[in-house]
Amino acid sequence: MRFSALPLLALAGLTAAQNKATISLPKSGTSIAPGEVFDFQYNTMADYGVTSYNYTVWLFTSGLPSSFAPSLNWADGHFFGRFSEPNYPGNNDPTNLPPATLTMPNFDKSPGGFGAGLAEANQNCAFVVMEEYATGVGSFGLRISLTSNTIIYNATSS
Ligand SMILES: *[C@@H]1O[C@H](CO)[C@@H](O)[C@H](O)[C@H]1NC(C)=O
Ligand SMILES: *[C@@H]1O[C@H](CO)[C@@H](O)[C@H](O)[C@H]1NC(C)=O
Repeated sequence: MRFSALPLLALAGLTAAQNKATISLPKSGTSIAPGEVFDFQYNTMADYGVTSYNYTVWLFTSGLPSSFAPSLNWADGHFFGRFSEPNYPGNNDPTNLPPATLTMPNFDKSPGGFGAGLAEANQNCAFVVMEEYATGVGSFGLRISLTSNTIIYNATSS
């Protein structure tokens, strides 16, 4: 009895570990219209032995950047915000809780000033979360995970 339960426990642990640093919502392949309010849910790295700090949420309309070489046109996209989930010990009571929903900008509209928007349809975009976390194994600065789901901006058919 005791021994036969072990593989199941190991499997449960594996499933939990695979759930870390994942974007549950929006799911990959979700179509999101300009201006649409969409559900957002991210599973942090927080676990026994792992403390999660802040994570930042981005949309790269130009796709996942392939390099970090400095460039004036490094990427196109939008920054949604910097959020944090309570996790004990270390980050029990963050003030910047994640919202349950985010709003897709309408990129056809001018963002103001000289900025001009651009109409686009059926564009695959990278919805990205970068999380700061740390474990009991020393790291030179916080560890940073990178997670990305693909979403479709302004799909013209469903
Ligand atoms: C998390 O982000 C908030 C808002 O930017 C900031 O006030 C806070 O110090 C950050 N916490 C950590 C642990 O980096
Ligand atoms: C969405 O796509 C349609 C069809 O191509 C286009 O007419 C419209 O301007 C697009 N909207 C935005 C906000 O880019």
